[in-house]
Amino acid sequence: MNTDRREFLKGAAWMGAAAAVVGCSTTKGFGFGDGGSMATYADKPFKKLRVGIVGLGRGQAGVTGFNAIPGCEITAICDLNAARIKRTLDATAKAGRPAPKVYTGGPEEWKKLCDDENVDLVYNATPWELHVPIALYAMNAGKHVATEVPSAFTVDECWELVKTSERLQRHCMQLENCCYGEIEMLALNLCRLGKLGDLVHAEGAYIHDLRSYNYADWNDATGGGGYWDFWRLRHNTAHKGNQYTTHGLGPICWYMDVNRGDCFDYLVSLESNQFNFEAYAKAAFPADNWKHNLKVEMGDMNTMLIKTKKGRSIMIQHDVSSPRPYSRINTITGTKGLLCDYPYRVAWEDKPGAGAHSFFANEKAEEIRKEFMHPLWKQSGDMAKKMGGHGGMDFLMVLRLAYCLQNGLPLDQNVYDLASWCCLCELSEKSVRNRSASMDIPDFTRGAWKTTAPLGDLSVDLGKMGLA
Ligand SMILES: NC(=O)c1ccc[n+]([C@@H]2O[C@H](COP(=O)([O-])OP(=O)(O)OC[C@H]3O[C@@H](n4cnc5c(N)ncnc54)[C@H](O)[C@@H]3O)[C@@H](O)[C@H]2O)c1
Repeated sequence: MNTDRREFLKGAAWMGAAAAVVGCSTTKGFGFGDGGSMATYADKPFKKLRVGIVGLGRGQAGVTGFNAIPGCEITAICDLNAARIKRTLDATAKAGRPAPKVYTGGPEEWKKLCDDENVDLVYNATPWELHVPIALYAMNAGKHVATEVPSAFTVDECWELVKTSERLQRHCMQLENCCYGEIEMLALNLCRLGKLGDLVHAEGAYIHDLRSYNYADWNDATGGGGYWDFWRLRHNTAHKGNQYTTHGLGPICWYMDVNRGDCFDYLVSLESNQFNFEAYAKAAFPADNWKHNLKVEMGDMNTMLIKTKKGRSIMIQHDVSSPRPYSRINTITGTKGLLCDYPYRVAWEDKPGAGAHSFFANEKAEEIRKEFMHPLWKQSGDMAKKMGGHGGMDFLMVLRLAYCLQNGLPLDQNVYDLASWCCLCELSEKSVRNRSASMDIPDFTRGAWKTTAPLGDLSVDLGKMGLA
């Protein structure tokens, strides 16, 4: 694998050029693509859902889920790494499932998987630079596509995914698993039940010290060790702004019905200088190692503020280089009370105007957690925890995806959610590079947010799965 500095910089230059360092212009969207809005689009039921998985690192969330869910079959897999392919074939055999067709041996083998007539859904868990090319190719090959986070990085890429999805009437979903976290779904339920009142403000984040992983060498023999070809470090060295927006933001958009009753309006973004990345590399690697003097564009802490058209505010932070405990913050406040996470706490007024000056005691918070647990968690939470994957949320995401496709339902996250959550990567970078100037956020729904109904109950009827 490329641990050579020249090769590394070649890749970094490619990614930097792709973003044209924040000089991209916004493609205006007028009217829907040929096929119409995807806001509530549903295809025919896929009683047997045939899945092709590209990228078998994080793609294991899909492997575990689809191998376990009735009516699903992983018919094809693709990766460059032999160890990861073997691990996936072993897991599939252990689950008693048929062996999938393997595509490997070249960087464009994923095209063959997308063209495979035995694939209905392309599940894409590759490095960031492959997200948009694979999604576009898969839709053009007639497939529905679900892509890991972030699914795109620029406003133009987001419009291209929206227009292609509309024109071809293919799902283009982002795999934002944090929307299905237990506390996130508890918060969603409290919002739906009006316990927090009218929603006013939310805070989310991706705070995760990834320094050692960013700089670690990929080990081809074992398939892992660091990120493949330093894809994350290459992106971070070339960019400022929040380049991983969706883990904190996705659940907040569900609480606030963004694209289904509300809409982003504009943002400002402010970033600290970079103090941690380069210092880490200097301490961790000797002077003759290319990593020792590597320049990193990304500041350590990025803070983005979003105003919605209905007047709410959202704060989203990104920090993958400071020595801090993991947090997605996950705080939602309303006219009656609030829920905070990391750790989970909750409070609301007993009567209007009484105030919520301190959080409820732990016992009461625990009672609330049990009483108001989201129906999906009440129904499938135990199974999800056994299946694992970030405490069960990975499995619930895959379960809902499979359930909706098997039963001809719209997906929980549509292409407009993908676009509005992901375009913030470029817009936050533009703001940072312009002294935190305000940036308009496109309305990818082109006004449909005013009439699209909020997400429904999100439960799953296990009796309606795998009836092929
Ligand atoms: N939602 C989450 O909680 C979560 C967690 C981790 C990663 N992710 C996302 O998942 C994606 C992958 O992350 P990861 O940690 O698995 O990265 P990774 O570097 O561990 O794995 C990437 C895999 O892609 C393969 N690959 C690279 N180029 C390829 C090509 N041309 N054709 C086929 N395979 C190719 C590599 O061999 C490797 O197995 C990223 O987008 C990341 O943001 C999401």
